[in-house]
Amino acid sequence: MDIHDIKDLIEELQDDPDFQIQEMILRNAKSGDARRLAEIDRQCFPQPYSESMLSHDIQYGDNLTLLTAVIEQEIVGYIEIMIVADECEIQRVAVLPEYRRRYVASMLMDATLHLSESLGIKSHYLEVRAGNEPAIKLYEHFGFQKNGVRKKYYGDEDAVLMLRIGDPQQFDPDKLS
Ligand SMILES: CC(C)(COP(=O)(O)OP(=O)(O)OC[C@H]1O[C@@H](n2cnc3c(N)ncnc32)[C@H](O)[C@@H]1OP(=O)(O)O)[C@@H](O)C(=O)NCCC(=O)NCCS
Repeated sequence: MDIHDIKDLIEELQDDPDFQIQEMILRNAKSGDARRLAEIDRQCFPQPYSESMLSHDIQYGDNLTLLTAVIEQEIVGYIEIMIVADECEIQRVAVLPEYRRRYVASMLMDATLHLSESLGIKSHYLEVRAGNEPAIKLYEHFGFQKNGVRKKYYGDEDAVLMLRIGDPQQFDPDKLS
């Protein structure tokens, strides 16, 4: 399995109306997006990625895909995944504070899971701060279950490992209307 398959699939879907959800468009990150993504990171994470790290991931991250959510031509959130063989790690999901609770993250997760599964990815996993209740709830919506703890993984906080198991509840875009 080649990671470029999922990027290619996203490109192919750009003209598909089903890949645009109301006013939001999903597209692959481009190198010119790194500054905007770094700004989103600053607003979302205690340890944000720098613009140069993000630029490197976009251009040279062979196993990495960054899928962005765009509203009115501005990126408002993104998901970064790493695919190795038939496993997909969700590395980061971030949505600007003013766009939260509008299912932006859900749509990024839903698209990622559908596309990766359509390409034969069997296993999805992630690590999340034990106290990050919004993220844990989001992941549980998509069928991830807690599968272990890494003590003090973040220095001050444990990491919870989550695996996607079974037949998860599907996201219903009708919730948006
Ligand atoms: C976690 C995060 C990505 C969620 O983004 P979002 O676009 O607001 O999420 P959604 O609107 O798709 O929420 C989907 C579900 O997740 C859960 N959820 C999301 N935010 C929540 C919150 N603040 N409190 C409780 N549950 C929450 C809810 O179950 C929600 O469904 P509901 O609104 O019908 O109850 C966002 O809060 C964020 O960017 N946080 C900072 C970065 C981060 O912690 N990322 C995750 C670790 S990498």
